[in-house]
Amino acid sequence: MRYLPTGEWMQKADSYTINEIGLPSIVLMERAALAMVDIMEQEQLDLSKTLVFCGSGNNGGDGFAIARLLKNRGYDTKAVFVGREASMSEDCKRQRQIAENSGVLVVTTVDQEEYTTIVDAVFGVGLNREITGDYLDVIRKMNALKGAKAAVDIPSGVCSATGKVLGAAFEAELTVTFQCEKLGCILHPGHLYAGKTVTVDIGIDAGIFKNEDTLCYTFTKKDLPDLLPPRKPNSHKGTYGKVLMITGSKGMAGAAYLSAKAAYTSGAGLVQIYTSEDNRVVLQQLLPEAIISTYTDFDEEKLKKFLSWADVVGIGCGLGQNRVSEQILKTTLTEVKVPCVVDADGLNLLSCHLELLKEQDTPMILTPHMKEMSGLLGCSVTELAQERFEKVKAFTEKYGVVCVLKDARTIVVKRNHQIFVNTAGNSSMAKAGSGDVLAGVISGLLAQHMDTYEAAACGVYLHACGGDEAKAAKGSYSVLAEDLIAGIACCTKKT
Ligand code: ACO
Repeated sequence: MRYLPTGEWMQKADSYTINEIGLPSIVLMERAALAMVDIMEQEQLDLSKTLVFCGSGNNGGDGFAIARLLKNRGYDTKAVFVGREASMSEDCKRQRQIAENSGVLVVTTVDQEEYTTIVDAVFGVGLNREITGDYLDVIRKMNALKGAKAAVDIPSGVCSATGKVLGAAFEAELTVTFQCEKLGCILHPGHLYAGKTVTVDIGIDAGIFKNEDTLCYTFTKKDLPDLLPPRKPNSHKGTYGKVLMITGSKGMAGAAYLSAKAAYTSGAGLVQIYTSEDNRVVLQQLLPEAIISTYTDFDEEKLKKFLSWADVVGIGCGLGQNRVSEQILKTTLTEVKVPCVVDADGLNLLSCHLELLKEQDTPMILTPHMKEMSGLLGCSVTELAQERFEKVKAFTEKYGVVCVLKDARTIVVKRNHQIFVNTAGNSSMAKAGSGDVLAGVISGLLAQHMDTYEAAACGVYLHACGGDEAKAAKGSYSVLAEDLIAGIACCTKKT
């Protein structure tokens, strides 16, 4: 697991390390600068003529130390101070003085010379407002210069909490970030500005925020074996749970097939599909391992019987939005006594019946994409995109559900819980059926008695890793939802 702190958290950890533990800030700066120079060399940036842009905060201080170390290693290096003399931090002043004492030329305007590498140490995690005036010109000038581009800690202009560009941002091809990758460099569009990110340990004690529920985290491939529920030698299909997938109206057999197969692939013991009678034959042929039960019209008693059979219910994939599907959803959400995953049309129908969530005391996972979430919230997609964390958090607090907001960086949110941010997966997964597979995977994990939140976060990650396997096998264009299932099987096989 990797924590993804915001700048605010990192500044707290920084000052805890300096003020409580007693590690001097100048030592942290020296380590940061050494790491930056080492990594630029390892990444084979042409450092023969380097220009370091320094601001007046401590990021600027790092910049002066970097310029000095580069000069000490024999590189032709110049520092350009673009900050304000009056607001220079004490450490920045000190580093500038040490750099000048070491023979580094510090200028205040950029000349016409060509440089092989440009280092951005204008703003670090202390950026706290929109960039305006001459700072904007500085960032544009840095981007316009030829040469390799490397950022210190975070590209100047990227908000460390949201990934938003505050006016303009440095376009780095390498970002050397200290202690923890910052949330803003993971989220869109910040990650586009960070380029390749290398994280280095410089001795900041990041432990102080580990129990804070406003913190974000992500998984790495190494985490997967520990995330998946164990398989016991002495077990049978009942051990791994019964999933009822209420999916697939007429013409939507594919959604039923994909979600049910994904539930099996993530380890569920038994999957029953409750679907339109029109889908019976095709589904029996496509997935003989599933029990197929069907409806021609709404049948409350039959539905209740299936609900009482299940250990987990998944509802919504390809369900349609008509009278019958609406009755099915209402009855399901009223009667269900086991964990329930609501996806796709289930969510579209739910947006008109949110009272059903208030009456719930069973664990609920909702898996909306941005459009479905905006329907649940009653706002536009643009409004949601502006404040996705706050809006989804407020929703989960109001309704007590786990919410999986699907996007290029899917987040999993629950009341009083740290937020999982998915960092795996790729654009090959942006295709029809991908969401059905995810709903099936999460349902399958829940059936194996995983905690609701853990099943959601693990399901998102496993699904994304499956997407990475599928892309490795078929490239970015040709991956189909079914390939994701094969990719997921590959991932679980490796564990
Ligand atoms: N326009 C103009 N100025 C701005 C803007 C803006 N849009 N946004 C922020 N600023 C100003 C802030 O007001 C602040 O100035 P102030 O302190 O006078 O208010 C300044 O920019 C902050 O600049 P940063 O260099 O981004 O922030 P900070 O000084 O907190 O340093 C840090 C960031 C700790 C260096 C981090 O990015 C980093 O690189 N860490 C590596 C470890 C390290 O070197 N630690 C040093 C420890 S020294 C210490 O923390 C005291």
